[in-house]
Amino acid sequence: MTRFTRIGFILAAAGSAVGLGNIWKFPYVTGEYGGGAFVIVYLLAILFIGLTVFIAETVIGQNGQADVSTSFVNLSKSKNKNWKFAGFMVFTGLIILSFYSVVLGWILNYVFTSFVSLPTEAKVAGANFEKLISNDIGSLILYHTLIAGSVIYIVLKGIKEGIEKINLILMPLLGLILFGLLLYALTLDSFSQAISFMFSPDWSKINGDALLAALGQAFFTLSLGVGTILTYSASLSKKTNFIKTSISVAVVDTSIAIIAGLIIFSFLFEAGAPSAAGPGLVFISLPVIFSGWGLLGQVIAVSFFVALIFAGITSAVSMIEPSLRFFIERFNITRSKATLISGSTFYLLGIVALLSMSKSYGAELTFFGKNAFDLMDFMTSSIMMPLAAILTCIFLGYFVEKQKLQDAFTQHVPLAVFNFWYFLIKFIVPIAIIILLLNKLGVIQ
Ligand code: PFF
Ligand code: NA
Repeated sequence: MTRFTRIGFILAAAGSAVGLGNIWKFPYVTGEYGGGAFVIVYLLAILFIGLTVFIAETVIGQNGQADVSTSFVNLSKSKNKNWKFAGFMVFTGLIILSFYSVVLGWILNYVFTSFVSLPTEAKVAGANFEKLISNDIGSLILYHTLIAGSVIYIVLKGIKEGIEKINLILMPLLGLILFGLLLYALTLDSFSQAISFMFSPDWSKINGDALLAALGQAFFTLSLGVGTILTYSASLSKKTNFIKTSISVAVVDTSIAIIAGLIIFSFLFEAGAPSAAGPGLVFISLPVIFSGWGLLGQVIAVSFFVALIFAGITSAVSMIEPSLRFFIERFNITRSKATLISGSTFYLLGIVALLSMSKSYGAELTFFGKNAFDLMDFMTSSIMMPLAAILTCIFLGYFVEKQKLQDAFTQHVPLAVFNFWYFLIKFIVPIAIIILLLNKLGVIQ
C-alpha cells in the first residue's frame, strides 16, 4: 500500500470534507433556520461531536492500517472477528456517491449553460432548473456519465497518483476561486448584512429541528460515518500527530462553509433576494442575481459553478475509496477490478436516481412515499451514517482496550485531552446520535 504524505493526507481529507455540503447545503440550511443562532449551534456540533468522531475514525484507521472491516477487527479486544460487519459502512459511500454524482452533473450542466447565458428572471430560472432535473434525461445521463467517468479515472490511479494528486491540484484552485469571490463580496454594501445575518443569533429560531439539522450537517460535512476518514487514515504513518491533523481538517472545512455562506448571503442580500430559498438557492436564486451583473456576473457564475465541481469531485473520490480498499483486501482482487465493481454499482444506482426524478420515466415509482433519489438520500444520511457513527463510538468506548487508545493520544497530547475525548465518545456522542436517529425515523419529534 502506498501512503499519503502528512500534507497529502490533510489535503485529501480536507478535499473529502469540503464539498457540496459546504457550498451548497450549509448556506441554504443556515438560511432556512434563520442564520446566526443556527451557525453557533453548528459550530458547537462540529467542535464537540463532529471533531470527536473525526478523531475516532482517524484512530481506528491509523492503528488498524487496513480496510474498514479489518481495521475494526485489528483494534478490537482479542481481535474479535465479528467486528468485520462494521464494513457495511463502505456501501454507504457508494450510495451517497450515486446521487452526489447526479447533482454534480446538474452543476456541470450549469457551468456550460452559464457560459452561454444566464436567466434574467426567477420564473425562468426556476423553470430551467425544473426542466433539467425532471425532463432532460439525455443531458442528465451525459453529465452523470462525465462525472462518474472522471471519478473512476482518478481512483484507478491509486492513492498517490490519483487521489493525492487531484487534491493537490483542485484544492488550491478551489481556494483561489473562493478567495476571488470573497473579495468581490467584500466590495458589496450587503457584506455587512451577511455578517450580521450569520453571526447575530436570534435564539427564537432554534428548536429541536434546528439542533438536529446542525448535528446532521456536522456529520455530513466532515464525511463521517462512511469509512472515508478511516480509510484515508489507514494510509497515514503511525507517527503522524492525528489530533493536530484532525483539527486542521475541521478548521479548513468550517472556514470554507463560513466563507461560502458569507459570499452567498452577500450576493442574495445585494439583490434583495430571500435567504430561505431552500435547495434551489444556488440553482435558481443565484443565476438570476449573476445575470444582473452583466459580463462580470457571467464570469462569477462560471467560476462559482466550477468551484462547486472542484469541491465535489474531491469529495466524490473519497466516497468510493473505502469500498475499493474493502474489496481489494477482503477479496484479494486488483484495484482495477475493485474499481470496476464499485464504479459500475454507483454509476447504475445514479441512473436509477436520475430517472426517479423524471416525469416521463420514473416519478410514479416511489418507495415509502419517496422517489429513489430521496430514498437513497434518506437511507444514507438519516440511517446508515448515524448508525455507523454510533457503532464507531460504542466500539471505541467499550470494545477497545482503553490503554491502547490512551497511549496513542498521549504521544501527542496531554492526558486530560484524552480523558475528555473518551468521555465524549463513551457517553455524550452516542446519546446525541441516538436522539438524532430516532428523530429522523419519526420515533420522536
Ligand atoms: N463532506 C462532503 C461534503 O460536505 O460535501 C460530503 C461527503 C464526502 C460525505 C464523503 C461523505 C463522504 F464519505
Ligand atoms: Na463538508
